[in-house]
Amino acid sequence: MGIGAWAWGDSLFWKYDAKFDFELEELFEYYASQPDAFLDTAELYGLGRSEMLIGDFERRSGKRVKVASKFAALPWKTRRERCHRGALDVVQACEASLRRMGRSSMELYQIHFPNAWANEARGNGLRAYWDGLGDCYERGLVQAVGVSNYGADAVEAVSTSLGRRGIPLYSNQIQYSLLYPFANSNGLKRKCDQLGVKVLAYSPIGLGLLSGKYSAEQLPEGPRAELAKAFFNGQPETAAGLVDAVAKTAEKHGATPSQVAINWCVAKGTIPIPGARNLRQLKDNLGALSWRLDAADVARLDAASAAVQPLAKANPFPAKDVGSGLRMFDS
Ligand SMILES: NC(=O)c1ccc[n+]([C@@H]2O[C@H](COP(=O)([O-])OP(=O)(O)OC[C@H]3O[C@@H](n4cnc5c(N)ncnc54)[C@H](OP(=O)(O)O)[C@@H]3O)[C@@H](O)[C@H]2O)c1
Repeated sequence: MGIGAWAWGDSLFWKYDAKFDFELEELFEYYASQPDAFLDTAELYGLGRSEMLIGDFERRSGKRVKVASKFAALPWKTRRERCHRGALDVVQACEASLRRMGRSSMELYQIHFPNAWANEARGNGLRAYWDGLGDCYERGLVQAVGVSNYGADAVEAVSTSLGRRGIPLYSNQIQYSLLYPFANSNGLKRKCDQLGVKVLAYSPIGLGLLSGKYSAEQLPEGPRAELAKAFFNGQPETAAGLVDAVAKTAEKHGATPSQVAINWCVAKGTIPIPGARNLRQLKDNLGALSWRLDAADVARLDAASAAVQPLAKANPFPAKDVGSGLRMFDS
């Protein structure tokens, strides 16, 4: 299990406010003392702020955590490496992330999402994220490489491409939760398992909607309110069924709803990376590691989850074909 640091610095979606940095630092201090503490961040999160906070916290505490960051595959960043001034392509973006964190290497580097043009080298070798990822690995900038939001075809293609250089594809980070379980039925989870690629489950608490604190009457603030309305008001019976199944399971184990949502991801063989914004949430989420769901719990939760209709807005990467017939995304 890891902890996601998207909300650390992101004011657009998460309404981040720097005056609460002391809460994040308190969280970090505690977490960094735990074995195998692992934070997931990205150059896009708070436009580098999340990485900078992690670097500052590490420096001030003298403690280190494992870190995974991500390359933002934006349309104007298309090369494995850029040798002149301009947009930061894969290798330079990785070095910039490391500089923000005050490090010489990181444990995992991921391509945040597929790009319609620049994933695989074609002819001139310039449009080549996968080659750039391999370069980061071979130069020792990163200890492992992964992708994110990749569909089954794409994950196989990148795994094959890196495999030619003897580089293992470590992980595919995808949206995966009781609220968004579709990788189980669309072949993506099976493909990752076949390839030996770990699935990092993002938004495992359904962006907080499965934490038990939100409802049709108690909506989250900011952009999450729309998602919450689509879930709690748009499909009231199935939403109530899922929330109830989570609550009953939590009660049975003397646990919290967030822990149930996280443990369901663990039971499915994924590595959840729940977000946490303060020490209380961190401790609650880490508490998921001290107990396990039994088979009857998983069956009850699966049934409640299967009834939920996909929240279209919950997936920023809908299924579509990109490039030469390669299906890059799966939803
Ligand atoms: N690769 C990608 O494209 C991608 C996309 C999304 C996320 N991610 C990664 O996955 C991580 C986690 O996903 P997420 O943050 O989207 O969703 P999440 O983990 O499902 O939900 C996190 C939010 O739920 C609330 N929360 C967390 N723990 C709680 C607890 N114990 N009790 C009550 N509320 C709690 C907090 O928000 P409030 O307190 O404000 O409710 C927190 O920010 C991100 O931080 C990021 O690293 C990656």
